[in-house]
Amino acid sequence: MTQPVPDHGIQDTGFQLQDGLDEAIAAFCLPEVLGFGSVFGPAMFRADYRDGQWLPGEFQRYGPIALEPGAKVLHYAQEVFEGLKAYRVDGREAALFRPEMNWRRLNSSAARLCLPAVPESVYVDGVFGVTALNEAFIPGASGESLYLRPFLFGTESNLGMGVAREVSFMVIASPSQAYHPGSMSLLIERGESRVAGGGIGAAKVGGNYACALQSAARCAELGYDLTLWLDPVKRRDIEELSGMNFFAVVDGRLLTPTLTGSILAGITRDSVIQLARSRGLEVEETSIAVDELLEWIAQGRCSECFACGTAAIIAPIRELGEADGRRCQLPPEGGAITASLRQALLDIQEGRAEDTFGWMAAIPDRYRRSSMSL
Ligand SMILES: Cc1ncc(COP(=O)(O)O)c(C=O)c1O
Repeated sequence: MTQPVPDHGIQDTGFQLQDGLDEAIAAFCLPEVLGFGSVFGPAMFRADYRDGQWLPGEFQRYGPIALEPGAKVLHYAQEVFEGLKAYRVDGREAALFRPEMNWRRLNSSAARLCLPAVPESVYVDGVFGVTALNEAFIPGASGESLYLRPFLFGTESNLGMGVAREVSFMVIASPSQAYHPGSMSLLIERGESRVAGGGIGAAKVGGNYACALQSAARCAELGYDLTLWLDPVKRRDIEELSGMNFFAVVDGRLLTPTLTGSILAGITRDSVIQLARSRGLEVEETSIAVDELLEWIAQGRCSECFACGTAAIIAPIRELGEADGRRCQLPPEGGAITASLRQALLDIQEGRAEDTFGWMAAIPDRYRRSSMSL
């Protein structure tokens, strides 16, 4: 049983609250150790798409969902997702980092997989409402956050190949500690490809991550932290990591691979580019041949490399290596440019620095518990 939200104009947005949600929120206790992405807040959001239209969304208790074993997502992987964070450090109001960018990217991934676009109002309900309902459980130390995971998947039960006519959009939230990969050692992946030319590399879809797991296992066996992927056609140019974009400081300039169509357009990547330029650094989006980069490191022309993404923000790279064990070293703890960009970005996200770019989005009052009369 669900009940429509009765007041404060919330009915306009057409969402509902599941019975028992307030009790679930009241009963929830944050464990002492959170980790990253392993604890889930008590409130989630779900909106279903059927017969060509979106039905009113519902805020629900976090818990298992029913899915037909014949659901297309389980067989043909029609699924796309996003990842973004809400920060509430040092008692400040919760705010989301560039949520509209994730909405755009979600819908561009959806288009690639023939899933229906999520209307802005449904997405806004989901990400802001889930943040507001879980607000009391957003950890408040620097580096901590509420990691939000919006996702969209084909639920229609039918084993015929084809576009799912029934789809769900959900948002779940994970109160998380800082994700610190530390300074990373990367395996240059010269054997496998994460994506194909003309494929789905630029979309945020589950299959791209499943496909990276074998290389991740090899990294662990060989003593590396993560994979560095090359372009799938010539296996020459650096593309990205399995969950982060790549940057190098060469001759004092910041270089990052051009978005070729097989790289995910990271929101952190875009933010780093804007931030670096605003601080007077020259930034170039260009092709970076991995063997040339190794020479530049050996010659001292490349002084720093780092990776960036929502989870880790900015993480220094301390070495690039081959499967045969040859390794090319960078500063073990990263360089000054990496550290200062990381600090500047974190200061904006955590509210210590002025948000001159207009990146932070506060929660509209209509999504607060008090307005929802829980
Ligand atoms: C493959 C891949 N590249 C890059 C990124 C970085 O993107 P963002 O900065 O939007 O988190 C991610 C993480 O979402 C990713 O999964």
